[in-house]
Amino acid sequence: MFYIIRFFLFLFPAETAHNITLKCLKIPFLTKFLKVIYSFEKTELIRNIGGLNFKSPIGLAAGLDKNGEYIDQFADLGFGFIEIGTVTPKGQEGNPKPRLFRLKEDKGIINRMGFNNKGVETVASSLKNRKSSVIVGGNIGKNKITSNENAINDYLISFNALFDFVDYFVINVSSPNTPNLRNLQEKEPLKKLLETVQSENSKKDKMKPIFLKIAPDLTEGQLDDMIEVLNETKIAGIIVTNTTLAREGLRSTNAVEQGGLSGKPLFKKSTEIIRYLSSRTDGKMAIIAVGGIFSAKDALEKIDAGASLVQIYTGFIYQGPALIKKIKKALIKK
Ligand SMILES: Cc1cc2nc3c(=O)[nH]c(=O)nc-3n(C[C@H](O)[C@H](O)[C@H](O)COP(=O)(O)O)c2cc1C
Repeated sequence: MFYIIRFFLFLFPAETAHNITLKCLKIPFLTKFLKVIYSFEKTELIRNIGGLNFKSPIGLAAGLDKNGEYIDQFADLGFGFIEIGTVTPKGQEGNPKPRLFRLKEDKGIINRMGFNNKGVETVASSLKNRKSSVIVGGNIGKNKITSNENAINDYLISFNALFDFVDYFVINVSSPNTPNLRNLQEKEPLKKLLETVQSENSKKDKMKPIFLKIAPDLTEGQLDDMIEVLNETKIAGIIVTNTTLAREGLRSTNAVEQGGLSGKPLFKKSTEIIRYLSSRTDGKMAIIAVGGIFSAKDALEKIDAGASLVQIYTGFIYQGPALIKKIKKALIKK
């Protein structure tokens, strides 16, 4: 059934299909009906990471529900946690369209959305309306017009505005579509950013876990620096990885489009980074894996490499919600 729906959706430009799908999720009772089909809850699936109890280790990656408007619907589809955003202090349009491309032959997506979102105040208001108790992560970034020198302030604004409405935070310094954002992954600016946000966190009655989301295009030296910074700042963990700028071995003609590549072509690279980080930290760092998960086998491979939780985006677009239940069943079997 999903493949018939996907066939029709794939006749539309990628962003149009994306918007139609999200609108459809709001059809009354549709996701409640889908919940009957896709629901699969078992106590063996519960994970405690960063002091939070995740109903299952399979989450929705950032970028699909940018404004936190579909949390109840995605929870109905079976996700154990949902990451909203990336959210910036002020709303912004993002890059001109077209900015989202399917690479069908490669089972990938290239996007250069550019943090299109409604701004943190509006997102905070939508979060107030959610009914589901599913764990929600707030992925935060800086506005395009904010210079890197002033970036910390943007992260603090969003951190404070979302604090009461999300369960964990993600500091996103790894999107390739905001000019120079990835420079914030360098040791000194990263340390300053994480220290400042963590210090703001410590002023709250109860601190919330903060994760750092990294790019897959980093050298081992840069990864070693990150481990040092994460240990020093006592950040809860790391999300591995965002999209890649690399374009190796692709067959699709539109693979020349600029932006970040996700999906199957990203799987190997992001899994290798998990393996590296896990071995360097003796498996002690909490790692959330994301990048090219298209099957239960892929998810298990990420967990074997050292991840505690996994997230999906492109695999969800290509394989549909059945993928979530398949991964859960495979985890139980294991
Ligand atoms: C259209 C699109 C938009 C995205 N937007 C964001 C974003 O706003 N913030 C973010 O941290 N990651 C974003 N991502 C990256 C995903 O969260 C994920 O890290 C990446 O796609 C790799 O996972 P996948 O191969 O399962 O898609 C986006 C990905 C796609 C395809």
